[in-house]
Amino acid sequence: MEVESIWKIIREETQKRAEAEPVLASFFHMSVLEHDSFLSAVASQLANDLSNSSIQPLMIRNVIRESLEANPDMLSDISFDLTAVKDRDPACKYYSTPLLFYKGFKALQSHKVSNWLWFHERHSLALFFQSRTSEVYGVDIHPAASIGRGVMIDHGTSVVIGETAVVEDDVSIFQGVTLGGTGKEVGDRHPKVRKGVLLSSSSTILGNVEIGEYAKVAAGSVVLTDVSPGKTVAGVPAVEVGDSSKYVPED
Ligand SMILES: CC(C)(COP(=O)(O)OP(=O)(O)OC[C@H]1O[C@@H](n2cnc3c(N)ncnc32)[C@H](O)[C@@H]1OP(=O)(O)O)[C@@H](O)C(=O)NCCC(=O)NCCS
Repeated sequence: MEVESIWKIIREETQKRAEAEPVLASFFHMSVLEHDSFLSAVASQLANDLSNSSIQPLMIRNVIRESLEANPDMLSDISFDLTAVKDRDPACKYYSTPLLFYKGFKALQSHKVSNWLWFHERHSLALFFQSRTSEVYGVDIHPAASIGRGVMIDHGTSVVIGETAVVEDDVSIFQGVTLGGTGKEVGDRHPKVRKGVLLSSSSTILGNVEIGEYAKVAAGSVVLTDVSPGKTVAGVPAVEVGDSSKYVPED
């Protein structure tokens, strides 16, 4: 769906939510209703969450706006992430829910900004975004990690993604997932996760291994070797246990 169409739906939903729950009316207003664009709402939401006593929301908002305006694809990528959550998480009933309430979604959007800063040689500010995102949302993604669009990080808590990791489009990641190094390699040392993969809760993928398209990694697995496309792996260390089909997670 186009960004403008999603933004219209989010505003309508939030208006109804504000009428139904007056206690949150000012929160809904500040988060969505007072904004004239999706870009403005996203920037404001992240800035309010990530600011602290040493850096004011306005300064963070300006950096986020700068990155979004410099890279027009970023806003459309955010709308793909939002749609991924709505489509794949049965608990998510509204388009407005990830923007208002889901820290996995917000952490991914913060990563887009830190990634843009990193590759524009603003490493300190990129690391500030990484650090605040980890503190506030419990999701720790190195600014240099490459993450596609249509990605869902559900729940978010304790997700760690290393510097040279690649996460392609349409990947689903649950809480507690680590895409880490083995500690024995340097340089390009993190996993490459191909399109449509499911990484179940608390799965740990270590080293420069490839998780093939639409593969599934079962909850609690430790993956140390490549996984073929379309296969399900489970266990410690993980072994093939079957063929995967296109996955719709249940909560
Ligand atoms: C991997 C998973 C998606 C199932 O995929 P699947 O392709 O449908 O696999 P199946 O359920 O047919 O299981 C295949 C085999 O792997 C085993 N298996 C499945 N999950 C496993 C796990 N986490 N650890 C160890 N073995 C597991 C099954 O017992 C089965 O073994 P069997 O053939 O000896 O009976 C599912 O097991 C899983 O881990 N889901 C977690 C999703 C999640 O993180 N939810 C959190 C929501 S908050």
